[in-house]
Amino acid sequence: MARRKKVYEGKAKILYEGPEPGTLVQYFKDDATAFNAEKRDVIDGKGVLNNRLSEFFMTGLTSVGVPTHFIKRINMREQLIRAVEIIPLEVVVRNVAAGSICSRLGIEEGTPMPRPIVEFYFKNDELGDPLVSEEHIIAFGWAAQQDLDDMVSLALRVNDFLSGLMLGVGIKLVDFKIEIGRIWDNEFMRLIIADEISPDSCRLWDIETNRKLDKDVFRRDLGDLADAYTEVARRLGVMPQGPSGVSKPTLIN
Ligand code: TMP
Repeated sequence: MARRKKVYEGKAKILYEGPEPGTLVQYFKDDATAFNAEKRDVIDGKGVLNNRLSEFFMTGLTSVGVPTHFIKRINMREQLIRAVEIIPLEVVVRNVAAGSICSRLGIEEGTPMPRPIVEFYFKNDELGDPLVSEEHIIAFGWAAQQDLDDMVSLALRVNDFLSGLMLGVGIKLVDFKIEIGRIWDNEFMRLIIADEISPDSCRLWDIETNRKLDKDVFRRDLGDLADAYTEVARRLGVMPQGPSGVSKPTLIN
């Protein structure tokens, strides 16, 4: 069989040409990076967990009418997606202060936001993905005002959906990042959710204990990252047997 053409390789995923025009295959690697790849490791099973979790969140969003790039899962590490033109912005929604908003504004971690805050970061590794304002986005042509309004509304719908889902399994959705892409249906342009939604791109805290169940476990050396992601998947009923796909032996009395 001819080798598939690699279209793009990022820090945690690879994109290959898809079987039909307008499609891509998204492959989830086990690589974990933080602080713009200054810290890196390989976490066994992370790619498998994120593939399944992203599938779960994206199909849930589709079912409530939020458009996403997800078409179908192909195997343990790959999913078929719609090719989009990625808007070069990371859209972050925050419900509780954590991470960069704390260091930037001196807010104590864990402080609830008066309302969900939507922020935009310019996707540029060389610059370290700087925070940008709507003024910058429009002035430099990264998105139009109408796109920005649509992006905020998509981000808040994702926030409502994910917050509710997480609350139902005892997890607080502290914040998350999404990426948004453009697709064309004839001459009409639409924005859809792209990339991934997984514990790599969210902050998830246990409601009772505030145990961190997201990539901060890796960023801050708080324990086993795959265990944390497996716990999220288990609570949501996604691959209850764990990322190995093989159930553990059970003791028969
Ligand atoms: P921050 O507090 O570091 O700005 O991160 C906000 C959210 O965005 C958090 O859930 C982690 C996520 N995020 C990414 O998915 N990719 C990134 O490169 C960064 C910096 C954050």
